Amino acid sequence: MLPTTFIIFGITGDLAGKKVLPAILNLYVNKQLPSKFAIVGFSRRHFDREEFRELIRDHMEIKMGQYREEDVKHFIDHIYYEQGFFDKPESYKNLALRLKKIDDGFNSCSNKLFHLSIPPTLNEGILENLSVSGLTIPCGGNGGWTRVLIEKPFGYDIETAKKLDKKLGQLFNESQIFRIDHYLAKEALQNILAFRFSNSLFEPLWNRNHIEKVHIKLFEKNGVDNRGSTYDHIGALRDVGQNHLLQMLSLVTMERPKNFNSNSLRKERARVFQVLKLNNKKTVMNNVVRAQYEGYKNEFGVRQHTHTETYFRLQTYIDNLRWKNVPFYLESGKALAESKTEIDIYFKNINKDNEENGQNVLTFRIQPDEGIKIRFLVKSPGFGMNVEPKNLKFKYADSKSFLVIPDAYERVLHDAIIGDQTLFASTDEVIYSWKYITSIISNWSSVPLGIYKRGSVDVI
Ligand code: BG6
Repeated sequence: MLPTTFIIFGITGDLAGKKVLPAILNLYVNKQLPSKFAIVGFSRRHFDREEFRELIRDHMEIKMGQYREEDVKHFIDHIYYEQGFFDKPESYKNLALRLKKIDDGFNSCSNKLFHLSIPPTLNEGILENLSVSGLTIPCGGNGGWTRVLIEKPFGYDIETAKKLDKKLGQLFNESQIFRIDHYLAKEALQNILAFRFSNSLFEPLWNRNHIEKVHIKLFEKNGVDNRGSTYDHIGALRDVGQNHLLQMLSLVTMERPKNFNSNSLRKERARVFQVLKLNNKKTVMNNVVRAQYEGYKNEFGVRQHTHTETYFRLQTYIDNLRWKNVPFYLESGKALAESKTEIDIYFKNINKDNEENGQNVLTFRIQPDEGIKIRFLVKSPGFGMNVEPKNLKFKYADSKSFLVIPDAYERVLHDAIIGDQTLFASTDEVIYSWKYITSIISNWSSVPLGIYKRGSVDVI
């Protein structure tokens, strides 16, 4: 494999420290990276090499003792820093010189992976500068590639999403663009498709005749931490609704793809978004709840009179034969009682005298404690004929061969290096999902903003 250089815009930011750098370190330790690789951080602040190495060491959120000290040291030896300004063409010239030097050291032209780990408002300017500076043209003719990895949200509503998409299309080939939704790369999420399409037990029941409703939850215990200033301009629906929750919905509801390659899978996911029932003022008023946690306004970087939601719950419908009239509830919030992501599939209740607990419920636990649970009814021992619910459970942690689950960002970076776009969002997915979300956002003002206490279980 050719040497690979990661260029991280915003290396001093939260995402780089929490997810991106630890993921590259893990890939390195597990020998999943090309033997020759380099990481170049590009950011505004000034550091000398030593200061930067110290910063990276502190910045990476890795647990003490998780790695051998010499591995961490060697890893950090691969990291370089280029001080520059995202909007100054001159800075990109300096970056090009730096990359050339690294390539000279490799004695070959390296593959280049540009990762935009920055607030979304900066995306367009950086992409434009990358393209204009010629940095995204592979240096080795046919050998080597250049790819861009972009973080969500891709746009702010349907119009800005279209604009960004058009710009991307002008600057790069689709095969160079990797739009990250790291939820797609979560192991327990990919398992949904394997589970659905490999078990004849469930697929025949997977439709409106047998399923009453589906509830998809992404709950977080933490508040906005130190992301207040970025988050406040985005809010929960754009931050996780337009992407993570809708992607979970797509995996639960899509038709069986022709095969499991990138093209077929992305097409089927997009098809779900295409038939989501759009909202109007009345449906938004009836089907959407939004709220903010108490004290959010005092978080660092948050505007004082903000109306940004940190929680939402919405009811949505898929307008096709399989799912007509089945309600799907999507719910997410910060500063809730616990952190958990799970999907509950409620089958229709055929136990008329057990209305509350008579349903079969299949739960995909995405995190933590990845697994699957099925609630079913059994006869209570004794002389009568009463039934009561019990659970069948599978936990990844209980299976020796399932103990090591790759982190989503490891998978994202690994797949970007090998050029597999399956777990990245396509243009169609982005556009159709924004079309649906915009039908809510443009009627947001009809929904009062509730306030909930930190650590709430039932928000509203
Ligand atoms: C990110 C959101 O995409 O996903 C964050 O911007 C959220 O607000 C995070 O906290 C959740 O990801 P995970 O993998 O920690 O569940």
